[in-house]
Amino acid sequence: MVKEHRVLTGITTTGVPHLGNLVGAVLPAIKASEQKDTTSFLFLADYHSLIKNSDPEIRHHSSFEIAACWLACGLDPKKAIFYRQSDIPHIFELTWILSCLASKGLLNRAHAYKSAISDNEASKMQDIDKGINMGLFNYPILMAADILMFKADSVPVGQDQKQHIEMTRDIAIKFNHHYGNILTPPEAIIDEDTGVLPGIDGRKMSKSYGNTIPAFSEEEALKKVVMKIKTNSLEPGEPKDSSDCNIFKIYKAICTKDKIGELQKLYDEGIAWGEAKKVLFEELNSFLKPYRDEYNKITKDKSFVERTLVEGSEKALSISGPIIEEVRQAIGIKGF
Ligand code: TRP
Repeated sequence: MVKEHRVLTGITTTGVPHLGNLVGAVLPAIKASEQKDTTSFLFLADYHSLIKNSDPEIRHHSSFEIAACWLACGLDPKKAIFYRQSDIPHIFELTWILSCLASKGLLNRAHAYKSAISDNEASKMQDIDKGINMGLFNYPILMAADILMFKADSVPVGQDQKQHIEMTRDIAIKFNHHYGNILTPPEAIIDEDTGVLPGIDGRKMSKSYGNTIPAFSEEEALKKVVMKIKTNSLEPGEPKDSSDCNIFKIYKAICTKDKIGELQKLYDEGIAWGEAKKVLFEELNSFLKPYRDEYNKITKDKSFVERTLVEGSEKALSISGPIIEEVRQAIGIKGF
């Protein structure tokens, strides 16, 4: 018998679903969920959203939008385990257990925490921890618990999350060394191409930079965003370098090889930036339209989304339950 392979990934529920979520996480994860011998765990990382956002309305709305996004993109809840992190209390129990094992020094080295510290240093704060909550500091442990709770074998993530998976491995190995071989140290799966999808300002497309292309905006709004993509100041008629161009990189992420060749030719011939943006808009609009239509249908039926998640959490709990029990036994938290 072939061993079942577990793939797990989550999206933090802050902000509206964007093109980077679709091409970088949602669509590849849905494709993987259709493979034989693979069990996919796909979840809404709603408790992760507390770190950066304190607005309950935004959190609630964003969770709904991201759930609808997965379903609109074709996730078949029968082929994957699709759930809300907050519906699985075992994850938070495991977070505490792992917190008591992970060394503080390991977490001092986490990129997100280090970058918050260096911002404070740069602005000459007396207290270098000013404004930093324990959620930001502990976040890699919550993420480790998300993953280890289901004994996931692999975790597809962007380059920026690689360190978290390494920390997860370290924590799992330490646990196993101390309490016996129970947890699975996961592998990160990093797609180098989609890992670098730029936003409209050229930095990585990310809700924290506010440079995203929303996935489900109506045509006119989508066009407006595309028209704002940053370019250099070459004039129409001057040949353009496609390798260093935000328009081209986004186009590449959604188009076939033939189409990419066609735009390359136009770049060599000196296409005007306004024209290049129109070409991108047309392609992007036809790429997104079927998902958008489905999204508009799904968002009309909140109870369908809710029911799907509740059913998913029942499946998830039936897996996390026995694992947390195994962990409790191993650490000596058990009946007399
Ligand atoms: N931290 C991830 C992000 O910001 C989201 C996330 C939370 C995640 N828990 C996870 C991703 C577990 C993979 C596995 O992108």
